[in-house]
Amino acid sequence: MTESITITDNRTGESIEIPIINGGVAASEWAKLLPGIWFLDPGFLSTAACESAITYLDGEAGILRYRGYPIEQLAEKSTYLEVAYLLLHGELPTPSQFEAWRHEITYHTFIHENVRKRFLEGFHYDAHPMGMLVSAVAALSTFYLDAKGIFDPEARRRQIIRLIAKMPTLAAAAHRFSVGMPFVYPDNSLDFTSNFLSMLWKVAEPRFEANPVLARALDVLFILHADHEQNCSTTAMRVVGSSHADPYSATAAACAALYGPRHGGANEAVIRMLMEIKSIENVPAYIAEVKSGAVRLQGFGHRVYKSYDPRAKIIKRTADDVFAVTGKNPLLDIALKLEEIALSDEFFISRKLYPNVDFYSGLIYQAMGFPLQMFPVLFAIPRTAGWLAHWQEMLDQDSKIARPRQVYIGPDKRDYVPLEAR
Ligand code: CMC
Repeated sequence: MTESITITDNRTGESIEIPIINGGVAASEWAKLLPGIWFLDPGFLSTAACESAITYLDGEAGILRYRGYPIEQLAEKSTYLEVAYLLLHGELPTPSQFEAWRHEITYHTFIHENVRKRFLEGFHYDAHPMGMLVSAVAALSTFYLDAKGIFDPEARRRQIIRLIAKMPTLAAAAHRFSVGMPFVYPDNSLDFTSNFLSMLWKVAEPRFEANPVLARALDVLFILHADHEQNCSTTAMRVVGSSHADPYSATAAACAALYGPRHGGANEAVIRMLMEIKSIENVPAYIAEVKSGAVRLQGFGHRVYKSYDPRAKIIKRTADDVFAVTGKNPLLDIALKLEEIALSDEFFISRKLYPNVDFYSGLIYQAMGFPLQMFPVLFAIPRTAGWLAHWQEMLDQDSKIARPRQVYIGPDKRDYVPLEAR
């Protein structure tokens, strides 16, 4: 039996039955009965903006899968580059497909000298690296004139490769500039994540050898951040992409959305919060402040997850591996205490507030030596694969331009009053 809902217009008595398909009801059916009456849904709390086959997320059960594969298995067995292929192509690559993919990404890591010398070096000395990244990604569209050919499969593929390959180079360039260090060119003999670490940390050694535990931990974090279905930045990517803008401009918009403290900036906010709390003894007082509504517990709560974020569980384990190399981040004990108290407190239990992906990731980044300003940049690098997978899916679905309606609540018609008469 097909499941359905029935809507009755009480003004006319007319009814319409709408089938429930894959957990959704088509708003276009509703519009047939009620033209001009809009769903009022600020923040899209109850709106599915598209059909998607990329990421499955069950927030109640704490399940996250990319293309059907559980995030736990991918984090344990895969690599970021393989996951990027999976997100974009729908299937895991064969060995030869992976080798071709790895080779193409590796040989597109260089950026045009003008991007670095004229563009990035034009920023003020203390520019935020995320601001630099947003602008640099947008600027790339001016270097690749074929970027506008979004329906040419070969041109589209080229931009996807370029974007995934160049994000770490731009990110590292922004970091080196902000700390006054010279730019490091990509080393094509290194894997994706080790190459990124080399561009970040290399000083005078002929070849930078990343600590394999740290390189793997960062790769796991990249896997965990690669996609998260219709989050704020992915929605920005889809909305801008729906106007048929080139993928660099759409990715820059997604980066800009990720910049905010409610989204990609939350792990930075977590570290600032932990530094403000200072010691375990101050944790109960801070929790009391959160409960009074004065502040939010950063890294807690999620629009979709109403149980423990599965990514946070994996990150917590990864943190142990990292701290075995770097030494324990002194803020860890405060974080653990906060979690312990919050998870047993009625305020957090009744609101289903659990640690999210950002609660522990910042502690790892900080222990690895990343400055706080780099945290959203570290998020943007892997999320680029997810953004592009959604952009591509949207174009292939021949979707309409994003153009929501509004419910107007302003003044009725009134006549203009000349300045001297006001
Ligand atoms: N600390 C204290 N109370 C909270 C928190 C928190 N972190 N998050 C939600 N609440 C309370 C909120 O006050 C409200 O309580 P009440 O019903 O009494 O008014 C209730 O929980 C529901 O909150 P909401 O703001 O309506 O929930 P939302 O789905 O709109 O917001 C959120 C989701 C992630 C923006 C929010 O939980 C938050 O601000 N968290 C802290 C920032 C953070 O960690 N962001 C990272 C999100 S995960 C990574 C990503 O997606 O980028």
